[in-house]
Amino acid sequence: MNRRGAETETVTAVAPGRVNLIGDHTDTTGGLALPMAIDLATTISGTQGGDRVVLISNDQDDPAVVALGVEDPSALEPDWARYVAGVVAELRPAEGFTGSVSTTLPVGAGLSSSAALEVALALALGADLSAVELARLCQRAEQRASGVPCGIMDQLASAAGVAGHALLIDCHNESVAPVPVPGDIEVRVIHSGEQRFLAGSAYAQRRAEVEAAEVDIGPLRLRSDPVDADGVTGPVARRRARHVISENQRVQDFAAALADGDRTSLSRAMAASHASLRDDFEVSTPTLDALVDRLAAIPGVIGARLTGAGFGGCVVALAEPGILTDGWKVQPSPGARLL
Ligand code: GLA
Repeated sequence: MNRRGAETETVTAVAPGRVNLIGDHTDTTGGLALPMAIDLATTISGTQGGDRVVLISNDQDDPAVVALGVEDPSALEPDWARYVAGVVAELRPAEGFTGSVSTTLPVGAGLSSSAALEVALALALGADLSAVELARLCQRAEQRASGVPCGIMDQLASAAGVAGHALLIDCHNESVAPVPVPGDIEVRVIHSGEQRFLAGSAYAQRRAEVEAAEVDIGPLRLRSDPVDADGVTGPVARRRARHVISENQRVQDFAAALADGDRTSLSRAMAASHASLRDDFEVSTPTLDALVDRLAAIPGVIGARLTGAGFGGCVVALAEPGILTDGWKVQPSPGARLL
């Protein structure tokens, strides 16, 4: 990523949202995930200077005004200024910035609008980092802003997106392997109608439950000595571990099936992933379940599952082209960049 030019020049940075095709609640334990950056994105444009970051947004009533020395991002108002402050607090740019934010991403849908804002802002403020470093910085910004102990998937998908590809991310070593998305498979994202906000959700509790399971049986990520959830004490932590272990395997199966265009295996993996998120990880809702069931029953739909953290938000569906009209048709897109 290039450094921007002269200080008075207008800087424009764009960062995509993401949809996760499979591999949810695996990133926090160093597991596998297969998100793809999408063609819904956030753009920030403005000029450097001053001792504050001042942004107006096309979808927010009030501006974000953040001092460069901000100490506690989570205390700011309006809410969206917290994400701006999180990036400022992590990056500590030498100079402020005045500009505008425009986004085509829905907020609270589980398409990582906050990650897109963080990544675009870090670039606009002059972050000159590798995609993984940029993602780590923005993950920390997100955690400081929201108090949610999120993993790296959303920020890394936004930073490292590749046109035409999903990204097989190994969250243990933070490696990213692009996997082509066949041109004859359509990816659609359908909102359940339930807003999803992770602050105050059971996200942190789930993270603690899988960490408790790891105390009993060691790392849940893929290992040379396969790990078995049966050794976990307590039925709840055991179910959480079973989800993570089986989901890691499904990501591998799905990535291979995507490369082969093997619809039967894609369908099987998505159905099993949703069932596991519903029954073992308990992050689905009756509305999400009903939406997945309805979509999966439509001829020409390859598979459907909740995507992202759950607790509401969106479903992702793979379908033969032209079958579905619900929701957004999304294209695998390039990652964040300066324009
Ligand atoms: C949220 C978090 C991610 C990940 C997903 C679930 O999007 O920000 O780190 O844990 O939930 O897969």
